[in-house]
Amino acid sequence: MPKDISAAASGQFKIGGDLTVNRLGFGAMRVTGRGIWGEPSDLVEAERTLKRVPELGIDLIDTADSYGPYVSEDLIADVLYPYRGLVIATKGGLTRHGPDIWRVLGRPEYLRQAVLMSLRRLKLDRIDLWQLHRIDPRVPRDEQFQVIAEMRKEGLIRHVGLSEVSIEEIQAASKFFPVTTVQNQYNLVDRKSEAVLDFAEANGIGFIPWAPLASGDLARPGSVLTRIAHQLGATPGQVALAWLLKRSKVMLPIPGTGSVRHLEENTAAAALVLSDADFAALDDEARRAA
Ligand SMILES: NC(=O)c1ccc[n+]([C@@H]2O[C@H](COP(=O)([O-])OP(=O)(O)OC[C@H]3O[C@@H](n4cnc5c(N)ncnc54)[C@H](OP(=O)(O)O)[C@@H]3O)[C@@H](O)[C@H]2O)c1
Repeated sequence: MPKDISAAASGQFKIGGDLTVNRLGFGAMRVTGRGIWGEPSDLVEAERTLKRVPELGIDLIDTADSYGPYVSEDLIADVLYPYRGLVIATKGGLTRHGPDIWRVLGRPEYLRQAVLMSLRRLKLDRIDLWQLHRIDPRVPRDEQFQVIAEMRKEGLIRHVGLSEVSIEEIQAASKFFPVTTVQNQYNLVDRKSEAVLDFAEANGIGFIPWAPLASGDLARPGSVLTRIAHQLGATPGQVALAWLLKRSKVMLPIPGTGSVRHLEENTAAAALVLSDADFAALDDEARRAA
């Protein structure tokens, strides 16, 4: 692995117009146990991975109170506090009842507790980017947006993001606060959020694609993805990340891992340049596969 890997090669984006981050970030969901529940199976490696994140020029870490729960936020604080320029973007609005079990809870009093407890765990006075993990369909959405707007006004939250939302929901939330990021599932083969991405780009909203490495059948031998990866001396995962970075200037991928080796490999994708022809060939193959 070359020594000069840096996320800075992915270019920069200003969240909310004033919080500059390198576009290739890190997803801290995988530094937890199986089913995103409890401690990671290899705690030492998870800690090494987090320590390596800023050394590789990554300054955007995505997490959530529900990862573990609490394990991800706790580890981030243990290993990286006082952060020194790192943006810790966390989320709230999901409760956990066991491995792989997630329940939405958007009652205003719970969202306020979620923010207050993330602040305490992360040892912060203000969260740079707090994201509503899901809009709770059983609670009037305006009540959820209202309490977030209040916490923003009180200075507990600097910028607000949403996760798994439609354009209409972004517009509805924008009446309460500026929506600075949207985090929806998006990758080469999952393009359901194409219109949301275009909307985000047109409005200067950061788009954080989760599961960015997924490429489904495209990773099979003989695919366009594996051919291009071979030609570039890269892995299919690196090409998938490079494709995302080229797709939009508001794209902020957060590949997740609990291993230093994978972290380094993923970050090296920041410097991978795809030609327009390769980009189009991948787009074409992926759209057909999707
Ligand atoms: N907003 C939401 O609802 C939502 C939902 C899911 C995730 N997220 C966020 O998005 C981030 C990324 O999503 P994700 O973790 O689901 O998907 P991902 O980043 O696309 O893939 C992660 C998976 O790929 C493996 N991996 C990572 N790098 C690899 C490499 N170089 N070679 C081989 N395998 C590799 C990881 O295992 P190893 O640990 O073994 O490397 C892990 O199983 C999460 O960390 C989280 O912050 C948000």
